[in-house]
Amino acid sequence: MEKIIVTGGCGQIGSELVALLRQKYGNENVVLTDVQVPNFHVQEIGPWEILDVTSYESLKAVFTKFKPTKIFHMAAILSATGEKIPQTAFNVNLLGTRNILELAREFELPQVIVPSTIAVFGPETPKQNTPNETVMRPNTMYGITKVSIELLGEYYAQVYGIDFRTLRYPGIISSDVKPGGGTTDYANGFYFDAATRTKSTCFVSPETILPFMFMPDALRSIVELSEAPQKNLKHRSFNLAAFSCSALEIAESVKKYLPSFEFEFVPDHRDKIAASWPQSIDDSCARNEWNWKHEFDLDGMTEGMLKNLKVL
Ligand SMILES: NC(=O)c1ccc[n+]([C@@H]2O[C@H](COP(=O)([O-])OP(=O)(O)OC[C@H]3O[C@@H](n4cnc5c(N)ncnc54)[C@H](O)[C@@H]3O)[C@@H](O)[C@H]2O)c1
Repeated sequence: MEKIIVTGGCGQIGSELVALLRQKYGNENVVLTDVQVPNFHVQEIGPWEILDVTSYESLKAVFTKFKPTKIFHMAAILSATGEKIPQTAFNVNLLGTRNILELAREFELPQVIVPSTIAVFGPETPKQNTPNETVMRPNTMYGITKVSIELLGEYYAQVYGIDFRTLRYPGIISSDVKPGGGTTDYANGFYFDAATRTKSTCFVSPETILPFMFMPDALRSIVELSEAPQKNLKHRSFNLAAFSCSALEIAESVKKYLPSFEFEFVPDHRDKIAASWPQSIDDSCARNEWNWKHEFDLDGMTEGMLKNLKVL
């Protein structure tokens, strides 16, 4: 029987991942951890712990108590917030992951899954159809910590035999929890503003193109990667994609379903971060090695988001 710890379990992806894993493995077998206290309803469903991943001792206490077979390490400081507090981003992202890998070694934890990001790429990376292996010279603290995490995880796999796996998420769009300080938050913003009938102000320029994914695909992908037979995997770090679109195309997709939707573009410093990232991703390694297939395109996602937010 699996015993799973999720770090960052109150976050945008972590909170929905905990719910999905609990459906799959049973409420009592999935431990939600975060520096934040989960809401009262979530507290009642299954085990949870306050846990700061920068504290080796606190992590060790949680490992000792629950004896996990697998960890989904979702806790992180994202790109835009990371530029405001780069030392904290370094500590949480890189030292937090080093703590988890060290404890995985000590406790002989079979598997460590850590999401990575398209922010591992940088201005010198080819922007179209970015390959799995290419130039990785990011210029944000977030990207720098995530490249280092990929390399560190691969080192622990090679030297200590830990089954480390990671996928490079594009911008993730979801309706349950508002996003937590990433550069792609503007895309979520269109939908949340549409739900409250507020004019949306987008912080990147209309022609900024980035790869995106709807949350159901993001959740399915990380679970499928975790369950993929080791013998089929030639890589440990995977590009992952669904669709790419400009900021204007997202706003127009919302307007197609909600003609009264109004929006404007007031680009700020985050447009520069977005401009340093790939516009489209070659995820053929994920598709070939563990059969990755996305389900939602832009309009499919818009329809799903607006239904979830009770606009449709
Ligand atoms: N959301 C996206 O679009 C996106 C895209 C690419 C990659 N990712 C990756 O997916 C993972 C989850 O992202 P998310 O969007 O859910 O982020 P989020 O910001 O919504 O959630 C992160 C969670 O980590 C927690 N946290 C922060 N510091 C902590 C600490 N010291 N110890 C323990 N918990 C701490 C926060 O309280 C928060 O609940 C991250 O690794 C992120 O890099 C997300």
